[in-house]
Amino acid sequence: MALKKSRAVITNEEFRLAMSSWATGISVITCMSSENPRQPIAIVCNSIVSISLAEKSILWSVDKSSSSYQQWIHAPTFLVNILAEDQGDLLGRFAKKGPGKFEGLEYLCTEQGNPILEGVSVSMECATTQIVDTPDHSLIISRLETLVNNNKAPLIYLHSSSWSSTQLKTVADTGNS
Ligand SMILES: Cc1cc2nc3c(=O)[nH]c(=O)nc-3n(C[C@H](O)[C@H](O)[C@H](O)COP(=O)(O)O)c2cc1C
Repeated sequence: MALKKSRAVITNEEFRLAMSSWATGISVITCMSSENPRQPIAIVCNSIVSISLAEKSILWSVDKSSSSYQQWIHAPTFLVNILAEDQGDLLGRFAKKGPGKFEGLEYLCTEQGNPILEGVSVSMECATTQIVDTPDHSLIISRLETLVNNNKAPLIYLHSSSWSSTQLKTVADTGNS
């Protein structure tokens, strides 16, 4: 049995590795800059948590080091674009830091003005209701306003890599043989 470790001796890498066993989807959250309504903003995000079915509320966590941190905490609404399994290229495009993430990409906007990514699995427009501060992240709590479910299989994030459902099945089958 592995040795149980207490907080004082757990390294960042050990914590990161442990959390990488927690599979999530991958979303790209979009909005328009509050300073320049023609400037689209996006961030790759896998920290989404469903809070309440009754309230239809979710939260996500934004790193205070994000180049768009101020924009995210002041955005009245944003669009959560949950990537489909064939959209790994968008992960690379939007995970890079700084401006230029939309370069060469055509997109439409919702009525609220949030950029829509084509071909996603699900998109959810949300209105921010509360910001909870932590030392290096803010939790953005929001209410679901609209939902589009394209019923496409989602891209999965597990062990620090993105996977399609077919790839995951192959890994699982190989592991079982
Ligand atoms: C799979 C994945 C999930 C991520 N999830 C989050 C997240 O939930 N919150 C966050 O602030 N950053 C997250 N990031 C990191 C940002 O997407 C990344 O730092 C991005 O470069 C930030 O760019 P910006 O500084 O221009 O906002 C994630 C990155 C990846 C690859």
